Amino acid sequence: MKKWNAHVTKVLYTQQQIQIRVQEIGAQISRDYDGKNPLMVCVLKGACMFYADLLRSCTIPLEMDFMKVSSYGTATKTSGTVHFTMPLSQNITGRHVILVEDILDTGTTLHAVLPRLRVQQPASLAICALLEKPARRQYPVSLQYSGFSIPDVFVVGYGLDYAGQYRNLPYIGVYTP
Ligand code: IMP
Ligand code: MG
Repeated sequence: MKKWNAHVTKVLYTQQQIQIRVQEIGAQISRDYDGKNPLMVCVLKGACMFYADLLRSCTIPLEMDFMKVSSYGTATKTSGTVHFTMPLSQNITGRHVILVEDILDTGTTLHAVLPRLRVQQPASLAICALLEKPARRQYPVSLQYSGFSIPDVFVVGYGLDYAGQYRNLPYIGVYTP
């Protein structure tokens, strides 16, 4: 039987390397948001693993919320049109919001999401992404918290998918068709 992850040709970050970096970001957020009770927003589905680990590495009071966006492109490229398939469950006016994303690639997704949140006038709005691919940026989106900067490769695992698959790999690997 063919290995289900045969197309994952290289491990970019091991489970242990991810955990060390996630702990560092959690500690940083805990220092920066002490006393602010931030609302940490998980952008589904890709950020789910990162979000769950990151929040458990934060040592301050905080609240959780979820939103879901899809761009319905091909498996490795966004279509450019962002659909909001699940909105936040609450108003964010006056809140310190931290958006937690899996990866900042072209910036198309965040470029569409940020204005939607800003109209509600949060007290502050920060973005935390586990990964970023600076070489592919098309919109000027900047991250307040960034896990790893990676080259222009397609990665899967730890929440990231190729056509819906591989999200449950515990590491981040390079997908080769
Ligand atoms: P952007 O809108 O181009 O910045 O892309 C953001 C979304 O595309 C991410 O939230 C991911 O869902 C997806 N994406 C971009 N690059 C990758 C990758 O290397 N692996 C898996 N998903 C990716
Ligand atoms: Mg995706």
